[in-house]
Amino acid sequence: MSGRLQDKAAIILGAGSSAPGMGIGRTNALRFAQEGARLLLVDRDAKALEETRVLLQSSGAPCATLVADASTLAGHEQIVAACLSAYGRVDIVQNNIGRGGGGGLLDISPEQWHDTISLNLNAAFFACKAALPAMLEQGSGVFVHIGSIAGIRFSGTAALAYQTAKAGLIALSRGVAVEFAARGIRSNCVLPGHVDTPEITHRLAQRYGADRVDELMALRSRASPQGFSASTLDVANAVLFLAGDESRHVNGTELILDGGKSAFCGQPYMPAP
Ligand SMILES: NC(=O)c1ccc[n+]([C@@H]2O[C@H](COP(=O)([O-])OP(=O)(O)OC[C@H]3O[C@@H](n4cnc5c(N)ncnc54)[C@H](O)[C@@H]3O)[C@@H](O)[C@H]2O)c1
Repeated sequence: MSGRLQDKAAIILGAGSSAPGMGIGRTNALRFAQEGARLLLVDRDAKALEETRVLLQSSGAPCATLVADASTLAGHEQIVAACLSAYGRVDIVQNNIGRGGGGGLLDISPEQWHDTISLNLNAAFFACKAALPAMLEQGSGVFVHIGSIAGIRFSGTAALAYQTAKAGLIALSRGVAVEFAARGIRSNCVLPGHVDTPEITHRLAQRYGADRVDELMALRSRASPQGFSASTLDVANAVLFLAGDESRHVNGTELILDGGKSAFCGQPYMPAP
């Protein structure tokens, strides 16, 4: 099926990739382009952004780019203005801004706590605040945020500020969804478990050495009852559903994408009594 987002004006926040390859935002951008969206791709990394734009060229989708900082309200006002100038409307804000890690309570400094909350939560608040006026004027608009199951469960790695920020992101999304539902706005989150992304392999290589990456990625895969991690395309397909009209009655909720990991209590399988 194609044309599921035909002519929708979509802002993709974090449309680059922190390491070479297909990050989540980059894959979402490609999937949106395949479905006919008109795109404003945003990233603070000009080179990564340009790589995404080049990748999308063959899709023929209208595609503007903007290098901007998504961690400030001023940045988001600039982003919304650019989308209005390019397409005259803002139908979708698809937010990929975030970064995991950081450690537990005794590991993180107040500065790291602040930075993690700022990136994973405040950026989403600013995105909503900046885009809502245009959406309300149109009488329609959709937010799709990338959260994490870390926002609802301890997901195997201590990352207290990240967990807290992603939990806050769910609350923010639900709050916006309910407050503006009657005025045509929807807001939902996709909550991935482990996703195979270049950013993860890059960080594992830096921390543990390149020779341990395969072993550690396999460990991540085994953490899902399905025995494999999500691909970025798995995430993009979930995002696409929430961004388009097929999900018109889905609002203020989370689509968990973890192969059953968060449904599993963690107890090893035991013989039935
Ligand atoms: N990889 C996983 O296993 C996993 C699991 C659950 C959730 N997530 C979430 O998915 C999202 C994307 O993950 P990814 O692995 O593709 O990350 P990534 O780092 O490759 O991509 C994020 C992009 O956002 C950009 N960015 C970061 N801060 C910015 C800012 N202030 N302004 C503008 N651009 C900025 C980066 O330059 C990068 O291109 C994150 O929110 C992450 O928390 C990832």
